[in-house]
Amino acid sequence: MSFNVFITRQIPDEGVALLRKYCQTVEINPHDRPLTYDELLEKARGRDALITMLSDRIDDRLLHEIKSLKVVANYAVGYDNVDVKAATGRGIVVTNTPGVLTDSTADMAWALLFSVSRRIVEGDRITRAGKFMGWAPLFLLGGDIVGKTLGIIGAGRIGTAMAMRSRGWCMKVLYTTHTNKNAVLEEMLGAQKVDLDTLLRESDFISIHTPLTEKTRHLIGAKEFAMMKKTSYLINTARGAVIDEAALVEALRNKVIAGAGLDVYEEEPKLKPGLAALENVVLAPHLGSATVESRNKMSVMAAENIIAVLKKQRPPHCLNLEALVKRTA
Ligand code: DGY
Repeated sequence: MSFNVFITRQIPDEGVALLRKYCQTVEINPHDRPLTYDELLEKARGRDALITMLSDRIDDRLLHEIKSLKVVANYAVGYDNVDVKAATGRGIVVTNTPGVLTDSTADMAWALLFSVSRRIVEGDRITRAGKFMGWAPLFLLGGDIVGKTLGIIGAGRIGTAMAMRSRGWCMKVLYTTHTNKNAVLEEMLGAQKVDLDTLLRESDFISIHTPLTEKTRHLIGAKEFAMMKKTSYLINTARGAVIDEAALVEALRNKVIAGAGLDVYEEEPKLKPGLAALENVVLAPHLGSATVESRNKMSVMAAENIIAVLKKQRPPHCLNLEALVKRTA
């Protein structure tokens, strides 16, 4: 078929192979870096479909300029980088890759929770530097996890998977959600839906799993840190801007909370000044979905989403059915 697709970063081969079976041209960004906005605009010209990354800004201007565009397949579950409303207005379908990265991201949240509360990264630094002087009763004491309260902000797929893993540590689970009660968490864990203030006041570990929207930007700032226990830990594997990162630096520096485990940042890949100098934070470079299995499945899912739209069929994970209706009408 004469379809023309551009992929903004190298992705696993499975999805690319699938696209090549159906589309005449499948070009991939040859650089091992994100394209600048202008480069992306240039590369997008004349394409029927794009596979985009969370670091690509797909705004109204780009959607307006690329008249040939039928579908934007975001290679991520989060899609705050895409102006879905503008795409819908222009009849361009937007898709994402939910489900296949749920477990890898929930595991990452737990990895950060363990790392920060048991001071593993700090200990690694000390040991590598030859500063480990032998076992000592008061050396690098962390916080226990068993029996504590876990607060889940945003009990969707990943938040639910994160919470389910707490069974092994017999934790009490509180959660917030903007939708209905989470029946799985309530029935399996006796979890309670609470308001954000209650969750902040009562939790020992707080894990963020809400998408970034205008409502959730800076959801956690100075006021919220002040409500949290001094012994609590904050974990973020969702999107950096859900936290006011400058306020987090202050909260960690002044020991308003005990620590944080972060996989995401407000202005990736930049960090707010002072963050990297703090010992009570573990910093991962956005690795939530970074397993071979998840990334392979994401590539297949993105390809399937594109192929369905090009065939005028309903893609497996469409974010704006209205655009699909316009397109197939
Ligand atoms: C997503 O899919 O939104 C993740 O952040 C990618 O790792």
